[in-house]
Amino acid sequence: MVSRVIPVDPFDLVIFGATGDLARRKILPALLHRFQVGQMPDDARIICTARTNLTTIAFRKVVREAIEEFVSPEMYDKVDLTEFLKRVDYVAVNATGDEGWSDLAGFLRDGFVRAFYLSVSPSLFAEIASRLHKGGLATPDSRIVVEKPFGHDLDSAHALNEALRSHFEEHQIYRIDHYLGKETVQNLMVMRFANSLYEPLWNSTHIDHVQITVAESIGVEGRGGYYDQSGAMRDMVQNHLVQLLCLTAMEPPSRFTPNAVRDEKVKVIEALEPVALEDIARGQYRAAGDVGSYTDHAGNPDSQTESFIAMKVEIGNWRWAGTPFYLRTGKRLRERVSEIVVVFRKPPHMIFPNAGGLRGNALVIRLQPDEGITLRTTIKDPGPGGLRLTEVALDMSFAEALGEDSRAQDAYERLVMDVIRGDQTLFMRGDEVEAAWAWADPIIKTWEDAHQDPSPYDPGSSGPEDALMLMHRDGRRWRQIGA
Ligand code: BG6
Repeated sequence: MVSRVIPVDPFDLVIFGATGDLARRKILPALLHRFQVGQMPDDARIICTARTNLTTIAFRKVVREAIEEFVSPEMYDKVDLTEFLKRVDYVAVNATGDEGWSDLAGFLRDGFVRAFYLSVSPSLFAEIASRLHKGGLATPDSRIVVEKPFGHDLDSAHALNEALRSHFEEHQIYRIDHYLGKETVQNLMVMRFANSLYEPLWNSTHIDHVQITVAESIGVEGRGGYYDQSGAMRDMVQNHLVQLLCLTAMEPPSRFTPNAVRDEKVKVIEALEPVALEDIARGQYRAAGDVGSYTDHAGNPDSQTESFIAMKVEIGNWRWAGTPFYLRTGKRLRERVSEIVVVFRKPPHMIFPNAGGLRGNALVIRLQPDEGITLRTTIKDPGPGGLRLTEVALDMSFAEALGEDSRAQDAYERLVMDVIRGDQTLFMRGDEVEAAWAWADPIIKTWEDAHQDPSPYDPGSSGPEDALMLMHRDGRRWRQIGA
């Protein structure tokens, strides 16, 4: 496969929180990869900031160690790393005080793309935005990038939007949902809108239901403090799963422009129906074997926060009325799998005998791992012994089909470069985030008002029994995690 990397314009990228976990684990490795493939022009600069007093030389050592820790050795070249580090500077800045801001201003060059990446606690977003504006560091073209969580509920998200918009225009604000940067998530749009095969079938006449699963095998991994205040609903559903649902359900935008795509997503979110308590299954993993319980990991013995949630969601519009979307996500599940399963209705009249056990056609879009597409199809079971039917998978792994060069870029590689290019298509617009909270808030309130405790489940399982019942009750079943 031919690599067609188009270099971006020269830039000054300022990273706040550069000594933090996200910067070391994701952002800096992503920039190294983009450097290695030749996308970064010679005069691109990465200006890292944090509160700690460090020299640039000392900080470059921090970056080198981070790369050695988080990037596998065959994915980079030591000479490239040394060259890359020459583009990295460090300046100590106190996000909530006056120290360091004028030093930072001294690093910025006129006439270059300017982007500020806030890889810090959301409680600092408003203050940093204000200091960037008041100190004259933000120009009318500069971009500001913020990480999730974007708010804890509608009110806080709205307040955050107001705070950012009092210093930056919406077209300058890049709200990250890293799921949108995943290769297969974008492929979902290409599959739907660059092929003629799917669209005629993509509606409630032909689709029985859709399952969206984002299962993780890891637990809360040292993020217990944050996670216990969020739970699976706020941490995963309000953002990542809603985004996957939007891309699956939205109408074709008239063109592939940031606002045309985001307009269609907002329409889907606004069409989401309220979810009743009986359509929600919440779970919390308990201790088993060597694995401690969620409450141990969260450091809160009385926690009622869910580490798993499944729910049945209806979209109130002409295309989808009558086709439920079942969402499911959780920690400490059997395997790490993210997939969208589109289950088609069964043939209206079956002429073959013994077809009762067949599940019918399903299109499985695997987001991770082993990105690809599978179409479950009914065929004749080969050989003699009467005409028997069986189901097989027409299976396409992108890595196999496209060869080794198809190393899936990490989501952050694409997203950071899109910021530099000034392309907001894969970033959430302010109204979109608020619409998602406006849907999520009453759902959370439903179980809080009912004082409903999450049901326990075993680590390494598929979640609590209630989640299975959610489907069985409707005569359906989940695709097995890791099938
Ligand atoms: C993050 C959540 O947004 O996404 C984490 O805060 C979760 O809890 C992570 O583990 C999952 O991302 P990925 O890319 O590993 O599927």
